[in-house]
Amino acid sequence: PTKEKSEQELWEESQTAKAAALTHAKRKANITDKHEYELVFEDQIDFVMQETKKGYDRRKKKVDSIEDKDVSKPERPQFMTEHEKILAGRKKLPVYPYREEFLAAVKAHQVLILVGETGSGKTTQIPQYLHEIGYSELGKIGCTQPRRVAAMSVAARVAQEMDVKLGHEVGYSIRFEDCTSPQTKILYLTDGKLLREILNEPDLASYSCMVVDEAHERTLHTDILFGLLKDIVRFRKDLKLIVSSATLDAEKFSKYFDGASIFMIPGRMFPVEIYYTKSPEADYVDAAVITVLQIHVTQPLDGDILVFLTGQEEIETAAEILLQRSRNLGSRIAELLVCPIYANLPSEQQAKIFEPTPKGARKVVLATNIAETSLTINGICYVIDTGFNKQKSYHARSGMESLVVTPISQAAANQRSGRAGRTQPGKCFRLFTSFSFQNELEPNTVPEILRTNMANVVLMLKSLGINDLLHFDFMDRPPADALIRALEQLYALGALNDRGELTKLGRRMAEFPLDPMLSKAVIASEKYKCTSEILSMVAMLSLGSSVFYRPKEKAVHADTARLNFARGGGGDHVALLRCYRDWVASDYNQTWCFENYVQVRSMKKARDIREQLEGLCERVEIDNSVSCNDDEMDQVLKSVTSGFFYNIAKLGRTGEYQTVKQKKTVYIHPGSVLAKEESPPTWLVYFELAFTTKEYMRQVAPIQPGWLVEIAPHYYQECDVDDSKAKKMPKARK
Ligand code: CDP
Ligand code: MG
Repeated sequence: PTKEKSEQELWEESQTAKAAALTHAKRKANITDKHEYELVFEDQIDFVMQETKKGYDRRKKKVDSIEDKDVSKPERPQFMTEHEKILAGRKKLPVYPYREEFLAAVKAHQVLILVGETGSGKTTQIPQYLHEIGYSELGKIGCTQPRRVAAMSVAARVAQEMDVKLGHEVGYSIRFEDCTSPQTKILYLTDGKLLREILNEPDLASYSCMVVDEAHERTLHTDILFGLLKDIVRFRKDLKLIVSSATLDAEKFSKYFDGASIFMIPGRMFPVEIYYTKSPEADYVDAAVITVLQIHVTQPLDGDILVFLTGQEEIETAAEILLQRSRNLGSRIAELLVCPIYANLPSEQQAKIFEPTPKGARKVVLATNIAETSLTINGICYVIDTGFNKQKSYHARSGMESLVVTPISQAAANQRSGRAGRTQPGKCFRLFTSFSFQNELEPNTVPEILRTNMANVVLMLKSLGINDLLHFDFMDRPPADALIRALEQLYALGALNDRGELTKLGRRMAEFPLDPMLSKAVIASEKYKCTSEILSMVAMLSLGSSVFYRPKEKAVHADTARLNFARGGGGDHVALLRCYRDWVASDYNQTWCFENYVQVRSMKKARDIREQLEGLCERVEIDNSVSCNDDEMDQVLKSVTSGFFYNIAKLGRTGEYQTVKQKKTVYIHPGSVLAKEESPPTWLVYFELAFTTKEYMRQVAPIQPGWLVEIAPHYYQECDVDDSKAKKMPKARK
């Protein structure tokens, strides 16, 4: 409990400090002291820049002397074709000299733990080696990734290396998106997707090798895969399992897999100098931007910058400020290419981060912790570490899950700084104090399985026929509390009976690659005769990012457009539904999207997701064309409530919402269509909680309290939802 408090305090502080930081906007970092640096004021910038310029002039002389040399040697890379260059690059990777030795180890052992520094070539090369030697003739070579972006980008890279079209011999498969074909030999897929595949193919018969990559990340899905794969390799002696990790604590993996051998790829790491801030930084986004500019003007050009931030919003803000400030500095500084990377970035833009930096410019990559181990960007010399990431946090006892910006662990900080020293010595700027690193950061990141809602996974395991969860072979056993909560939740949703066995409803729910609450809403739509509406809504809710965009200059217009969808009531849920419906009515028109400040790309994605959900409905025999009228939106909201009756909040007399069961104070997210409502609804169903500065409810819709007793009588009694009582009591006292 004390830890929670300090996180919260930290965040409150950072908010008040944000205002103060605006006045400091002109500060910049002064990198003088070897191990510490501080942020100083703008008036010193000219001095620093003069010094830097002198440095550049000296270097220019060197450049001239190099350029004067005879350059007609045949091995000059300019004379190679693009593909030859790529092949030459493959041979330079640290894993390459160990190719034969590695393949011999695979031959000798069914299960192998592979350890190698990030960037050594594990993800891109190992599946290719296995393919080259012929394992792919016996079945696909799978390679799991915790992140969608990594699966897509690595598959694209490997397709390029093999000179094949993505989706043919090399493909990827992630939730709602399948880029494969019958001839696919190497398949990159998310760990969650592989879990789903096991539901359909419990022995993974179509695979000859499985690489569980980024095992050190210990995502929930990877941890569950461990348990399942450990079992599968026992009865499938022909399946090779490679567990690949970037950290040295491979012993634990080895022990878990009955003493499996460990294969080490010796790392090639250059020293990285670590700098800490002298005092804690209140606004790390601002501090990061200042540090980027400072590095840019003071450090030699041939080194790109990687900044770790926590999410899309922050990355966009930082990118905007950076572009603006570097524009203001104009030709006084070299060109700065700003490249964001986060999970929902469209894939065309993802590719940008891997493009070589043109001469005379510097690249700055603004990333979430996706760049910590999953993706390696060549040429990074400077790392700026804000010290935070976004993590799921779960209170098993209350059953509340939310996304929280959390300080990273020491191990993660070291992993991040290591990104600066792959190809040459580098520098890492930590936007926190050395004291904080030593005393405040946890040594290791807590595996996700210990801090998450397990309902999804429990439902999946149950449908795999694993009934005795308490004896499932977990690498780290989730808290019994969390398992029990998950069982309770599934029981409340009707997916399990009172003996903990999967019900018919549960079996149907498990067909959907959705959170059980969403699956339940889909299935409930059958009863409320609004499946078509629910599918559109669920597709929109599953996007993971906002469909609405809000350019600063046109914020008012954008807000009006968004609120238009909310006209007629029904909160965010129905607004999303109307948005989707109107887009369909416009015949998927792009101009319609522009006019309504809606992201075309997101809408197309929603359409894709919706089509897949339609298919899944057919499998569980739900008529997906059943639709309700405009004046029957209550039916839609009742379906939502059937899945989300856990997520109910009630407006108190103080003007704040409280969750009904846990009595936690929560607020409507500022991005909601109900955020500025003059008379906000008394009862709300919310989609999810996100803790930033406050505990916010994201995507909310009004409901009638009476529905709760009707829909979830085992969970709500009349007294829970009796509005009149609460209001009358004070009157009665008069
Ligand atoms: O998995 P591991 O961290 O060991 O390395 P990897 O991801 O296989 O990366 C090997 C090399 O491929 C790195 O130098 C990456 O920069 C490069 N790569 C790339 O250029 N483009 C991608 N989309 C992925 C990797
Ligand atoms: Mg990798």
